[in-house]
Amino acid sequence: MDQLLKNFFLFLSKSRGLNRMAKRYGLALGARRVVAGETIEEAIAKVKELNGQGLVCTLDHLGEFVFSEEEANESADYCIRTLDAIYESGVNSNLSLKMTQLGLDISKDLCMKNMRRILETAKKHGNFVRIDMEDYAHCQVSIDIYKELRKEFDNVGLVIQAYLYRSEQDIQDLNGWNANLRLVKGAYKEPAEVAFPEKKDVDENFKKLIKMHLNNGNYTAVATHDDNIIQFTKDLAEKENIPRNLFEFQMLYGIRTQSQLELVKEGYKMRVYVPYGTDWYGYFMRRLAERPANVAFVLKGMFKK
Ligand code: FDA
Repeated sequence: MDQLLKNFFLFLSKSRGLNRMAKRYGLALGARRVVAGETIEEAIAKVKELNGQGLVCTLDHLGEFVFSEEEANESADYCIRTLDAIYESGVNSNLSLKMTQLGLDISKDLCMKNMRRILETAKKHGNFVRIDMEDYAHCQVSIDIYKELRKEFDNVGLVIQAYLYRSEQDIQDLNGWNANLRLVKGAYKEPAEVAFPEKKDVDENFKKLIKMHLNNGNYTAVATHDDNIIQFTKDLAEKENIPRNLFEFQMLYGIRTQSQLELVKEGYKMRVYVPYGTDWYGYFMRRLAERPANVAFVLKGMFKK
């Protein structure tokens, strides 16, 4: 049943018609629980609040479908505005982005041009930009772009997904670039030809990748809500004397907030991924797909105004 619901929400996440409707309707149906607001002002206020609790953040201006150069450039402008707002407000946050928003599906050159603009701004402000990893179709090109950008910038990081068979090889390869990586399980629906179909295999691979990247001496962001993986990372660091400034934990805004605060209390660096913007629909559907039990809070959201 869970698998059925998961596929259903992933299917819904791709609906352009529903995306348009959602934009018109505004943050609703429980989305406010996992999206920090529609404007940059609301998002910065939330980040300030989280910083006050000892959490650091990464802001993500949500966007899903980009069809023209104009839209891609506009999306990059939003990223730049977000970096400016972080700098001006003095909050502790970096930026996460998706390269399809910056025109990756239109042309690699357009995406590179926008990435350079964004990274220049981040560099000027002494900030860091993380490239989220999207579906498998974008994996190789994302790694290629990352390497090209690393020749010019050191304030950029990437994400590697534990559900992909190729990721072990990618981690080995990216070691040569001292890549600052966020490691995740993977959020998209991928076929068994490219991704482990069983959760237990994804979890095992996740642990293997964390160990590899940390033992190679590279900065690692362990992004998960899974207690088992978090405990594995803590034990590994303890056992192998890995300094706490070589890794951080990351979780999504509004998910397992108590655990986030506990990690801070224990002295770990804990970064919250804070999405904001009017284009919240696809993000929200992917979060529902991860945990269909969350449908309960969507239903509550519909009745609680
Ligand atoms: P898992 O799904 O096994 O969940 C473990 C436990 O966490 C659950 O039992 C539940 O208690 C809790 N939980 C998990 N999801 C929940 C939810 N939505 N609501 C409530 N509770 C929940 N993916 C990707 O493909 N590319 C990317 O760039 C990123 N970036 C990213 C950044 C950050 C900061 C995070 C935390 C995650 C991502 N992801 C991602 C998503 C990631 O791939 C994965 O889909 C989710 O993190 C869910 O997997 P978990 O590791 O949390 O474990």
